[in-house]
Amino acid sequence: MDWNWKDKDSAAQYNALFATPADEFRACAARLRIGPGDIVLDLGCGDGAFLAAAMEKAAGAVGVDISDAQLAAAAARFKNDPRVELRKTPFLEFNAPDDAFTRGFSRKALHHLDDGQKAAFFARAGRCFRRGALFLLEDGIFDFERESLEDNWDALIKDCERYYGAGWDKKKADVTFCFRKEFPAGIKAWTAAFEAGGFRVLVRERRSSFYGSLLAEKL
Ligand SMILES: C[S@@+](CC[C@H](N)C(=O)[O-])C[C@H]1O[C@@H](n2cnc3c(N)ncnc32)[C@H](O)[C@@H]1O
Repeated sequence: MDWNWKDKDSAAQYNALFATPADEFRACAARLRIGPGDIVLDLGCGDGAFLAAAMEKAAGAVGVDISDAQLAAAAARFKNDPRVELRKTPFLEFNAPDDAFTRGFSRKALHHLDDGQKAAFFARAGRCFRRGALFLLEDGIFDFERESLEDNWDALIKDCERYYGAGWDKKKADVTFCFRKEFPAGIKAWTAAFEAGGFRVLVRERRSSFYGSLLAEKL
């Protein structure tokens, strides 16, 4: 399925099919070593689940998304918390003052940008992060570069069956749409995007041949 993020039913369907336990978001906040002085930016914040985990420790946060339905769900979580700002902004139009953030996070969202757009996005957003800021990306990271997707297709599908187990049948249409029509990328393309924003990739954590995380530091 092609998730239309501007459509409320599509967002609700996604959140049900790919529901994530709060502990996974807490683990992301812990990897970012979020503490009381931190100001956090979440790109593609969805219903605000990571922001909630981050705000158990952080001083403030900004969540960016384009979906009204997702932002409404996030707004409901934070209606009594003035430390969290939610912005309806497409990634490529995102802007903030220099050095505004000490921590960055994006999960399953920046693969909506093609590789040129990823680099252009980081080139613009990078200056909003202070020196020493940490950024955790959890997204579609292929073991190979995107140009060789078709050559790797059969092995990729086998790995999906292993990774998703009994849930694969229900997720297959969405996941294969994402591989072919959205822009999960190889490690080189993601690294180039981070470097365009002045970040250095510190660690790759691999969960499968198509998904994982990169922890980067702003130089
Ligand atoms: C797969 S959801 C992930 C949500 C959340 N990060 C999570 O892990 O549960 C992707 C999110 O990215 C947002 N999104 C997609 N393209 C976007 C864009 N170009 N600009 C801003 N947000 C975008 C969608 O509205 C959606 O909420």
